[in-house]
Amino acid sequence: MNISLKTQESPAGDVISPGLEGVVAAETVLSHVDGAAGRLILRGHDLEQLDGWSFERVLALLWRDLAPENAGEAEIRARLGAARVRAFERMQPALAALAALSTVEGLRLLLSLLPDSETESHHLVAVASVPVFAAAIARRHQGLEPVRPDPDRGQADDFLTMLHGVSQSPGNVRALDTYLVTVADHGLNASTFAARVIASTKAGLFSSVIGGLCALKGPLHGGAPGPVLDMLDAIGDADNIRPWLIQALDRGERLMGFGHRIYRVRDPRADALKRAVAGLDDPGVRIGFAEKVEREALALLAARKPDRPLETNVEFFTALVLEAVGFPRDSFTNVFAAGRMAGWTAHVLEQERAARLIRPQSRYVGPVPD
Ligand code: ACO
Repeated sequence: MNISLKTQESPAGDVISPGLEGVVAAETVLSHVDGAAGRLILRGHDLEQLDGWSFERVLALLWRDLAPENAGEAEIRARLGAARVRAFERMQPALAALAALSTVEGLRLLLSLLPDSETESHHLVAVASVPVFAAAIARRHQGLEPVRPDPDRGQADDFLTMLHGVSQSPGNVRALDTYLVTVADHGLNASTFAARVIASTKAGLFSSVIGGLCALKGPLHGGAPGPVLDMLDAIGDADNIRPWLIQALDRGERLMGFGHRIYRVRDPRADALKRAVAGLDDPGVRIGFAEKVEREALALLAARKPDRPLETNVEFFTALVLEAVGFPRDSFTNVFAAGRMAGWTAHVLEQERAARLIRPQSRYVGPVPD
């Protein structure tokens, strides 16, 4: 079988682009990724301008004029709190089924309990449910009972409290809030596109965002931060940093957490998360060690690939932030989903307004019957 992976024009004049590179499939007011300039714009704001914003405030920004209630930050915070309590009640009958599933499969299972026929504000319910489900899944994997949400807390605060069973320090809550804001939306990435395709069929918001989660689950999309920690573990101590990195590069391996397909300069999300790391209450020895690894890796990559700018990407500091606030490594994709649910829900609302079925074509290269 001979299937081409390159963009090409057929004799009939149609253009085929197997990874859809360069194909514009939607107009959006939500976010723009400018890889050449190292810029991420969320609804009129550079990511840097969202420094210090709560996740709820970003939700208000993304949902503005798309969600019917047009709520502000305070109303969203209150409604998310109430919806978390409801999500906690709702997941109880399904908890026994989690044992046989990976953490992200567990999240997929619990989200599928949400009926598209329900009349509540689906975007709010979806965003509120992920931390409740993700915290419960992480605890069940450690043999612990789920912790009931506190509707009076903010989303990041309650996520950490449900994970650990006790309140966490303000610095750690702020770091998780920054993480959720930083990954809230990122153009027409694979999971957002998947969610929009499903939304375009009018299947409903919960079905659409579950499709987004299924796309996020793949190691080419949402599964990268774990390997950064594996690399730090393998390096072990400060004396081994340079020799380990040199040997890895000599073997032709890639250094985890560096380089990006779209960003040709710095990844603005890496900077945002580096600031979050600096704000942790107790950055710990791991962070200082990781920063030494980063410095050495950037120097080696610059020397070896002078023509190919290879900078720190979002995954390097994601790994550090999520580990520092206490998430187990196998929960990282679910925490990513908790943040990206903001973007998925906003894109689904936007796509539903566009009211146009997404239906591309394929080029048939099989045999033609006589
Ligand atoms: N370490 C060492 N060398 C690298 C790295 C790296 N992290 N990234 C790219 N290179 C080298 C490649 O070996 C290649 O060298 P060559 O031209 O001599 O063969 C050159 O740089 C260009 O590589 P490409 O694969 O064309 O770069 P691309 O931009 O397509 O790849 C990617 C981007 C996949 C992220 C890559 O940089 C990589 O594998 N990084 C490590 C894994 C990682 O951190 N993934 C998370 C990315 S963030 C995200 O996706 C949300």
